Amino acid sequence: MRFLLPGVLLGTLLVTSGLSQTAPVAPASASSLDVISTDLKALLANGPRVAGSESIEKARGYLEAQFKALGYETRRDEFTYGRFDDLGSDVRVGSRTIAGNALQGSKGAEVTALLALVSGVGTPSDVAAANVRGKIAVISRGQNVPFAQKARNALDAGAVGVIIVNNTMGELRGTLGGTLDLPVLGVSQADGALLRSGDSVTLRVRTVDRTVRGANVVAYKKGVTAPEILFGGHMDSVVRAPGANDNASGTAAVLDVARRVANTPLSARAYFVLFDGEEDGLRGSRAFVANNSAATRGLRAMFNFDMVGVDVTPLAVGGTDSLSQAAQRVIPSLQVFRDSGGSDHGPFIDAGVPSLFFHRGIDVNYHQPGDVTADPTLIRDATDTALKLLDTALPSAR
Ligand code: BES
Ligand code: ZN
Repeated sequence: MRFLLPGVLLGTLLVTSGLSQTAPVAPASASSLDVISTDLKALLANGPRVAGSESIEKARGYLEAQFKALGYETRRDEFTYGRFDDLGSDVRVGSRTIAGNALQGSKGAEVTALLALVSGVGTPSDVAAANVRGKIAVISRGQNVPFAQKARNALDAGAVGVIIVNNTMGELRGTLGGTLDLPVLGVSQADGALLRSGDSVTLRVRTVDRTVRGANVVAYKKGVTAPEILFGGHMDSVVRAPGANDNASGTAAVLDVARRVANTPLSARAYFVLFDGEEDGLRGSRAFVANNSAATRGLRAMFNFDMVGVDVTPLAVGGTDSLSQAAQRVIPSLQVFRDSGGSDHGPFIDAGVPSLFFHRGIDVNYHQPGDVTADPTLIRDATDTALKLLDTALPSAR
C-alpha cells in the first residue's frame, strides 16, 4: 500500500503550517480508501459490538493487529461495570406474542393476569379509575409523567405488572431510574393497540444484572507516555445495531489517522484510543481519564470521531468552544454545533482537555439494525479535516 512506504510517498499533502511542514502526512489516495473499506468490513463481520461480547473482542484483535503492523505498540486498559440486560421480554395474548423491551430497573418475572387499560398517562387518579389491583396495567407513554412514576403508581394501586405503550413511532426503550419490584415492559404503539381490558395475558420480563468486562485499545509509538494529542472514537455498539456509522466509522477514522501519521514525528506525540463501553454511559473514556490522569493532564487536545460515515449534515465539530471556533477560522466551511457531551470527548472536557468532536449528524439508522453502511470517502474527509486542524489544536508545536 502506498502509505506503508512513507519515504516515497510522504510530502504531497503539505498544509500551510509549521507543524505540517515538519510532519507531512501520507497522501489521500484511492487505494488507501480501499483499506478503510477493509477495516469497516472487518469491524462489521461479527455482528453488533456490544461491550462484553465476543464480537467486540474480535474487533479488538483486528485493531491491535493493524496498529502493530504500522509499528505501534498496543495495550488494553481494562475496566468493569454493572449493566442491566434484557434477555428477551414479551407479552403473550392468546396465540400472539408481542415482543417488547424491559425497562431498565424492571424486575424480571413471569405473571399471568388480566389486563387493565389505564386512560390518561398514569397519574394516581388515572390508575385508581382503572382498578388495576391484581392486574397488569397498560399505560400510555406521556410527557409529564416519567416511566418510573407511572409504574410506581400502578404498583401502589396493587398492579402485578405494567406495560407502557409508546406514543410515537418505533420501539419503546427506557429506564426506571432505579429498581422497582414490578415487571415493566415497553411496547410499540402499534402493538399496544392490540391490548384490550379484560384480556388474559402472560407478561414475561427476562432480565439479568451482569458485570461487563470492558477494555480500551490504546496504541502509541514505543516509549511514548506523555502524548500531546489523543485521537479517539468508540468501537462498541448497541444491542441489535451493527454500528457501521455509530461507530465503526469513527473507529476506522482513528485507524486512518494512525496510518497516515505512522512515520511522521506526530506519531511520537500521539495516543490512539478505541474506547469500549461508550454506549453504556461513556464507560471507556471515563475509565481512561480516571486511570491515566497524568497522561490526560498533559494532553493539549483530544479529537473524538463519532458518526462520520453518513452525510446527514456536512462535517461538523463540537466540543470546546474556543477550539471549534478556531477550527472554523481555518476551515470556514466547517460547521460548528453546540453538543451536550454525549460521546467520548465529554470526560476529557470535564478533565480540562480542549477537545473537538467530529460528526455528521444523526442518521435514520442510528442505534437500529439498519446501521450497516459507512462511506470511506466521508471517513477520509474527516481525517483530512482533523489533520488540517493540527496546528489549531497544537498552536506552538513547531
Ligand atoms: N454516537 C452517539 C452520540 C451522538 C449522537 C453523536 C448524535 C453525534 C450525534 C453515542 O454513541 C450515543 O448514542 N450516546 C448516547 C449517550 C451516551 C452517554 C450513552 C446518546 O447520545 O444518547
Ligand atoms: Zn456513538
